[in-house]
Amino acid sequence: MAGNWKMYKTPAETVQFFEKFRPLVERSEHCEIVICPPFTNLAAAVDAAKGTRIQVGAQNIAWAKEGAFTGEISGPMIAALGASHVIVGHSERRQYFGETDETVLKRTHAALHFGLSPIVCVGERLEERESGHTEAVLMRQFQDGIAGLTPEQFARIAIAYEPVWAIGTGKTATTAIAADAHRAIRGQVREKFGEEAAEAVRILYGGSVKPENTRALMAQPEIDGVLVGGASLDPFSFASIVNF
Ligand code: PGA
Repeated sequence: MAGNWKMYKTPAETVQFFEKFRPLVERSEHCEIVICPPFTNLAAAVDAAKGTRIQVGAQNIAWAKEGAFTGEISGPMIAALGASHVIVGHSERRQYFGETDETVLKRTHAALHFGLSPIVCVGERLEERESGHTEAVLMRQFQDGIAGLTPEQFARIAIAYEPVWAIGTGKTATTAIAADAHRAIRGQVREKFGEEAAEAVRILYGGSVKPENTRALMAQPEIDGVLVGGASLDPFSFASIVNF
């Protein structure tokens, strides 16, 4: 169960969140819990999560180790703060910041190289869904991105299916739509990396996940977890998602 805080909260607000959130998930041992705050809150989050099972992730990663890349944050910098995960290729990065399948792959390689666990996002836009191209888009994102990993590298990633039209819009994909997309992605995994990898890989659903719809989503055998934006900002709401 992963929370993506996007561009919300200061370090002080991060500490306040964890004070409320920690006791609520103290006994939640059925899943991994990852919170991905902005870079500026990683240190505060890691500190506040100490002694708990809560893990901390970044929302992006540079593809280089260091260098003249103004505004970028590298894997060693993220790892030095104690974060363990990183979201790569989120649709907001693809939509607003020029992220492509190629740069998503480069960033995924960097995350793996520096010992971080990538959560690699894929998902179609509304016009792609409406014109019947969902599977083709997912296939392209998979082939041009994730398929460039070795089987060993692939074993270390999680995939997040995030239909762009469902993100921050209040529109959740129906459980059937989500499960269909997950099945298509798993099919790609099976073709490229084999049956064992297809069974082992965790595919998270993201897009307007809320406490009220988590149980139905998680009841789908194809859905292994959720990547939650808006509803992860409130400790009580994210805790009820974790404890669905
Ligand atoms: P949302 O965002 O839950 O606010 O729709 C999900 C995400 O973008 O990860």
